[in-house]
Amino acid sequence: MSNLRNKVAVVTGAGSGIGRATARVLAERGAAVVVADINAEAADKAAVELRGDGLRAVAVTADVSDEQQIRQMTDTAVDTFGGLDILHNNAALLTPDVLARDLRITDIDGDLFARVLRVNVLGYTLAAKHAIPHMLARGGGVVVNTSSVAGLQAEIVRPMYGTSKAAILGLTRNIATQYGKQGIRAVGIAPGTILTPALSDNLTPEQQRAMTRHTLTPRMGTPEDIAFLVAFLVSDEAGYITGTTITVDGGFTAHFPTYSEDLTAIGE
Ligand SMILES: NC(=O)c1ccc[n+]([C@@H]2O[C@H](COP(=O)([O-])OP(=O)(O)OC[C@H]3O[C@@H](n4cnc5c(N)ncnc54)[C@H](O)[C@@H]3O)[C@@H](O)[C@H]2O)c1
Repeated sequence: MSNLRNKVAVVTGAGSGIGRATARVLAERGAAVVVADINAEAADKAAVELRGDGLRAVAVTADVSDEQQIRQMTDTAVDTFGGLDILHNNAALLTPDVLARDLRITDIDGDLFARVLRVNVLGYTLAAKHAIPHMLARGGGVVVNTSSVAGLQAEIVRPMYGTSKAAILGLTRNIATQYGKQGIRAVGIAPGTILTPALSDNLTPEQQRAMTRHTLTPRMGTPEDIAFLVAFLVSDEAGYITGTTITVDGGFTAHFPTYSEDLTAIGE
């Protein structure tokens, strides 16, 4: 499939997990990809692997909490590949030291919350700020924002993460509303449990089992489940989809909260 030929994409957090899989699927479908990550080694490795397979990719070390580095990231797309059509905002602050301190509202450390928002919300916003003018110069483009089911529903913990992910729904609607008539679409994705390093680093095996029990499909999500949706959303086939957020969660948010207890009651 080569329906993204002549497209140029920037994927943030592309050194691992969902971003890495997305960079690969976009490249396999013909796009030239800027593989951006704060982790220089991971970004390089991912880009080298893609080029080794004959695909077009360049690595950029970029911390999306720094506007200067974001500008360099979007400029790299233009300088290396001649323009920018697709932005996948995906990097988030997911390190165990941060999530372990994201527990109760009454214990929130304001400075830490500011850091979370800086990466997870301002980072997406500033990347859009610097990508959109390049997209307008090409007559349009697509911004895909990775939110989370934690942006749709609350957990008993992680209020900072959940609030940051809820903000992404609003950002998506605002980009779509402001630039839709100029050919720019914005779509959010709310993944459920996806098997990535971030998941295994932050959830205990017991918590992962509970998530599995509440997923309706026989298997858990993979980074490719998200990557395939991104590839569709940025294609012309998705030309009428904008301003909305699509859940990819194996039915995690589709059922009654009592589902797990009901399974037990019927002996499953
Ligand atoms: N894995 C899941 O179950 C799940 C569920 C819902 C939403 N998400 C979202 O999906 C996205 C990707 O998560 P993942 O599971 O693939 O995680 P991951 O840890 O595998 O990958 C995240 C990548 O982002 C990079 N990164 C972190 N901070 C950055 C920064 N400031 N600038 C640039 N890069 C930075 C990391 O170095 C890493 O390579 C995140 O937005 C996350 O919130 C994941």
